[in-house]
Amino acid sequence: MRYLITSALPYINGVKHLGNLVGSMLPADVYARYLRGRGHEVLYICATDEHGTPAELAAAEAGLDVAEYCAREHQIQRDLGERFGLSWDHFGRSSSPQNAELTRHFAGRLRDHGLLEEVVTEQVYSLDDGRFLPDRYIIGTCPYCGYERARGDQCENCTRLLEPALLINARSAISGSTNLERRSTKHLYIRQSQMAERVREWIDSHDDWPVLVTSIAHNWLNVGLEDRSITRDLKWGVAVGWPGWEDKVFYVWFDAPIEYIGATNEWADLAPGERDWRGWWYGDTDVRYMQFMGKDNIPFHTINFPVTIIGAQEPWKLVDYIKGFNYLTYYGGKFSTSQQRGIFMDAAIDLLPADYWRYYLMANAPESDDTEFTWESFAFNVNKDLAGIFGNFVARTLKFTQRRFGDVVPEGGVPGPEEAQLARDVDEAMSTYVSEMDAVRFRPAAFALRSLWTAGNQYLDRTAPWNEADDQRVACVLRTAINLARIDAVVAHAFVPFACERLARDLALRADEWRWPGAATDELQVLEPGRAFTVGEALFPRIGDRSTLNAWVAEMEARFGGRETAGVAG
Ligand code: 2FM
Ligand code: ZN
Repeated sequence: MRYLITSALPYINGVKHLGNLVGSMLPADVYARYLRGRGHEVLYICATDEHGTPAELAAAEAGLDVAEYCAREHQIQRDLGERFGLSWDHFGRSSSPQNAELTRHFAGRLRDHGLLEEVVTEQVYSLDDGRFLPDRYIIGTCPYCGYERARGDQCENCTRLLEPALLINARSAISGSTNLERRSTKHLYIRQSQMAERVREWIDSHDDWPVLVTSIAHNWLNVGLEDRSITRDLKWGVAVGWPGWEDKVFYVWFDAPIEYIGATNEWADLAPGERDWRGWWYGDTDVRYMQFMGKDNIPFHTINFPVTIIGAQEPWKLVDYIKGFNYLTYYGGKFSTSQQRGIFMDAAIDLLPADYWRYYLMANAPESDDTEFTWESFAFNVNKDLAGIFGNFVARTLKFTQRRFGDVVPEGGVPGPEEAQLARDVDEAMSTYVSEMDAVRFRPAAFALRSLWTAGNQYLDRTAPWNEADDQRVACVLRTAINLARIDAVVAHAFVPFACERLARDLALRADEWRWPGAATDELQVLEPGRAFTVGEALFPRIGDRSTLNAWVAEMEARFGGRETAGVAG
């Protein structure tokens, strides 16, 4: 079995915040690394989601042509992803020619099967902007509550759903112009209503999906699927390209999921003749396909994209497993891109190492509920688990060995009851870790990882080599502990890859020693006596100390917003 992993594609406009990261790219990465670590063939695909009005407007604001803007932002997001250790096999772009071709292909299949309908509607056209305005780019006074900046789709103040025609003193959100008129325009609608039963059967054929995912999908199905427009009157997007449709592009949510396939095609095109992108997606495959996303994306991935795939009536692969996430909140309020509230990937990675964010976010992943980020809990988790347990175990093992025997794995002694106890503890933590990861449950998996690290400290505490006079015994204990450090490095690599690679270098691990561990009794004897190691800097330097930690938390809250701004919508 091979594994295809995709994470929801980040919108191109702007650096993503930690809530975006923990809901899609990061868990997909941890999962991909885990599977690779266990020896599986994995393809992890992501891309920037580049079309749509927000991208056009962000480009205009930046004073750039939209294609230039997207190229620049794509590079920024790619660099940040790499700094966070996101191990994409390919990070593509939904504006690629490969995606355009596939998008037109899918639309053509849907048309050929009678699943597209031409519908003429009236839409607001802004004469001064020279364009049709999507509903949310028309603003005016809410007829219900009098809020003056209500959007044409919904009033932010009273949350009532609106239509542009209901707004009093309607104007363009782009230019402020009130020179608006209604014009008729035709669009392609996908006949989702005809496919509801097929989609329901497909969803119900999966009994292992998280409840969050199936319940959101069922809510939509129960309300009833409406036909949905898949084209827009915009310039930036995948051109429909058919005669009579020259001025239209596909709706961003139509082409974005197709980019999962498009990006795989881009990946293959980078190594002509070597990579078979279709083999991952089409026909009979040995591929298990897993998607990772935040809950707002679940309807698109359980309903709309499957409608496209099923409707095409070709053997394209449907997703096998969907992992959905609730929201990470910032002090209980929303992370807000528009208000720049919370912490964004660029600021985070300039502040502290990627592993700190990776571990904290995954150990507190919003799996069964929304989870709150606070600076205090972040510092507490990092200091306790990474510095205090994992880092401390490695440091005390290597430093004590160095003092007593020099920078080599010590020789002598034979494993006894203490080592047998350690092996049982390690086996137990490993087996929990593996079963939680196989079930795609990150919080309990992180908990098991911590148990694995703790087993090392407890072993040192029990055996207390610093109080032991017998050199043979001490050698055996420290050799066993060094071997456990190797196991820790391999197993924790998915969560904290940078530190684990550092540790692997310090232990001078050979390629064949970097493999998923089997039974602990054997694995605790792999590194042979006499081999050299290096005692490096701390793997996870602490954030502050007792006297400075509170000041640090206060400083972060002041810099990024804290309690006092919580609850502000955005
Ligand atoms: O919600 C979002 O951030 C979207 N850009 C996700 C797209 S996922 C996929 F379908 F492309
Ligand atoms: Zn209102």
